[in-house]
Amino acid sequence: MKKIAIFVSGGGSNFKAIYNNIENGNIPGLIELVITNNPQCNAKKFALRIGIETVIVNDHRYPNNKDKENIILDHLQNWNIDLICLAGYMKMIPQNIIKLYQNKILNIHPGLLPKFGGKGFFGIRIHKAVLDSGEKFSGATVHFVDEIYDNGPIIAQRKIPINKNETPKSLEKRILKIEHEIYSEVIKAFCEDRIIIDNTQITIME
Ligand code: GRF
Repeated sequence: MKKIAIFVSGGGSNFKAIYNNIENGNIPGLIELVITNNPQCNAKKFALRIGIETVIVNDHRYPNNKDKENIILDHLQNWNIDLICLAGYMKMIPQNIIKLYQNKILNIHPGLLPKFGGKGFFGIRIHKAVLDSGEKFSGATVHFVDEIYDNGPIIAQRKIPINKNETPKSLEKRILKIEHEIYSEVIKAFCEDRIIIDNTQITIME
């Protein structure tokens, strides 16, 4: 069983979807650890409810960045974490951790990368930008995390057509639904060692 750490900052619906897919036997993994910068978020409340160790790492508790990095790293190592899943995590992962966990950190993005990604593209802003630019499709992307925001190798994408009278809110809602599916599918593939990385080429084996 792969040991998973989930990093969250907000509502936690992706976290819940992953958890449910583990509970129903779809994903052969174990969520051992939750890291959050936001002690108030719903994702943290959910982690508490299901009894997963949750560590709060933010400027308030650890003003020094090196301390933040060390506390995260200590926990990842103590739990022997195999896979880090960013699920609505709003902070940068320290460079050192990215290096140590190369090809072991996943992120879900509510847009079709490489478009509509990078600094400033988060939450409802992504969906507004997509609609403003007259795109015919949007969707969700799962990618490995590297040193640059939303830049790492793409593992999977799912597209949906933009409806007539679509609003940023309606698009957000429709995409969140496919995020839950595609993210769990990729995590399942990771946990079953079915993601093959050959230089820049990523294949999910059936
Ligand atoms: C999702 O849209 C995810 O793609 C983005 O942040 C949102 C988090 O939603 N990175 P939730 O906290 O999983 O409900």
